[in-house]
Amino acid sequence: MCGIIGCVGRGDETLETLVHGLESLEYRGYDSAGVALGGDSFGVCKTSGEIEQLRAALAEQSLSGSVGIGHTRWSTHGPPTDENAHPHQDCTGEVAVVHNGIIENYQELRDDLTAAGHTFKSETDTEVVPHLIEDELASGAAPEAAVRTAVSQLEGSYAIAAIVDGTDALFAARNDSPLVIGVGLDAEGTGSTNLANGPYFIASDVPAFRKYTAQVIYLEDGEFARLDGSLTVTGADGQPVEKAVETIEWDPEETGKSGYDHYMLKEINEQPRALRQCLRGRVDELASTVDVESIGDLDPSGIQFVACGTSYHAALYGSQLFEQAGVPSQAYLASEYASSPPPIGDDLVVGITQSGETADTLSALREAKQRGAETLTVTNTVGSTATRECDHALYIRSGPEIGVAATKTFAGQLAALNLFTLATVEDSQRRSSVIPALRDLPGDMQSVLDNSTAAEVAEEYATAESFFFIGRRYQYPVALEGALKLKEISYEHAEGFAAGELKHGPLALVTDQTPVFALVVGDGPIARKTVGNIKEVQARDAPVVAVTDGQSNAATYADHVLEIPETNPRAAALLTNVQLQLVAYHVADNLGRPIDKPRNLAKSVTVE
Ligand code: G6P
Repeated sequence: MCGIIGCVGRGDETLETLVHGLESLEYRGYDSAGVALGGDSFGVCKTSGEIEQLRAALAEQSLSGSVGIGHTRWSTHGPPTDENAHPHQDCTGEVAVVHNGIIENYQELRDDLTAAGHTFKSETDTEVVPHLIEDELASGAAPEAAVRTAVSQLEGSYAIAAIVDGTDALFAARNDSPLVIGVGLDAEGTGSTNLANGPYFIASDVPAFRKYTAQVIYLEDGEFARLDGSLTVTGADGQPVEKAVETIEWDPEETGKSGYDHYMLKEINEQPRALRQCLRGRVDELASTVDVESIGDLDPSGIQFVACGTSYHAALYGSQLFEQAGVPSQAYLASEYASSPPPIGDDLVVGITQSGETADTLSALREAKQRGAETLTVTNTVGSTATRECDHALYIRSGPEIGVAATKTFAGQLAALNLFTLATVEDSQRRSSVIPALRDLPGDMQSVLDNSTAAEVAEEYATAESFFFIGRRYQYPVALEGALKLKEISYEHAEGFAAGELKHGPLALVTDQTPVFALVVGDGPIARKTVGNIKEVQARDAPVVAVTDGQSNAATYADHVLEIPETNPRAAALLTNVQLQLVAYHVADNLGRPIDKPRNLAKSVTVE
């Protein structure tokens, strides 16, 4: 999804700061990129394709300035062409604007502006903004007032940053789209923040400027920021707003690849540590208690989960945990929530979202609020819109995830959902059986990572026609997630099914060219039924990969076995999932796919 970076006060480093920021936002997914610099001179450089292509274009053009904005675009209005790339300019070339989100009334604005004589160069909704600013400047408004008035005419979602020729300032505004300000180190580099001197940064997400500062200010909907030698934030009424400076705790190193070929592989391997972070200080094994900040007093009579993509699979898992504990629970795709039955009584609505910025999930949470429900977000992102709009936040503490395919954050979500049920609705008997498994989980996961033979399995089946994943109960969401991961990064066809459903249709697709990954944990009735399903596919010549703890006889019927240690079935879901993450990664690697930036996908989808 589109990414914004802007900075002032970086002197000769301005251009490099912008390009570095764009590289740090690549994980969001994009198809074109550009920068604009102002101050002493004014210029724009933009191109379709990757940031490498932008660097090549910049090498051909001399661009300098003390204030600048940059953008990675993920197409919504118009294809990924040079013209549609941001920044966009007005007719005079004196204004440059970058934008994330969707301007819903852009067609009316564009028609009016065209009728008034403006010429448009792109098909984007964004381009109306520089032309609106141009009109204000032409009628004598000062740059800040011009940008403010232009923004006030927009309907829809936006994070906007603008610069105006001849002005050493950067202007920014947001509505329903994330924007965070970085407050730089002072000129002496003493490490203290200096609100009077900057430098200042503005970005859609902290990694864009984390190299330069850990001090951040979150802009709220309707707020307007002016960044120059100082920082001023004003509300919709134009009055100054006091903003708190917060400190980001993670290290810039955490956003590097640390020697791994891909972020995804690094993040898969970080899972034991991410789980330790998630559990730290929240579980008291001796007392057999779980204490999670902010949610301890919740006692929901029912739960509605809303989420998208991988987070939806976590929601399916969470809903099973609550159902097992006797609390009625349902997982909804966030984009379908508006047509679902309303919450009953004091049902809690829980939005699971790694980024805390997914538009569909935010919209479902807002719908829940309108319906009078109390809301909680399970998220990785402190300060995200979801945390600010929900009544409660449960942090998964996975650290930054850069690869577009969610991996360690899915593990963090499942672990946090266990903490959630244990802290709120589960009894001491349940706690004493699950807590030891959670304690062992980081070590168990490390042993899966150290001993996995997923790379060999992936090599054998990389060119298969289709991949199927089957599982029951807690392994059902893992089967869905295994298929999603493979699809996302390998571009191969994959489907996940509840194991019992296979014979009700999908079996027609099963051949000797379609490996079936069967998730089998324990040796109870559930495992035995899945073993029965393995036999059904084997009879149709499908290669079988059993992902199992070896308690059942699943391995007997399998062509390959991916082992996991024996543990509680809830914890086992996180372990079988690691094997499937590795299968997806190695299949994609064998096929030479761009694993961290799969085509057409975005890390954070900020449009509905
Ligand atoms: C996008 C990503 C998925 C992610 C989904 C939900 O589609 O590509 O990997 O699962 O958004 O993201 P969230 O940040 O809400 O968990």
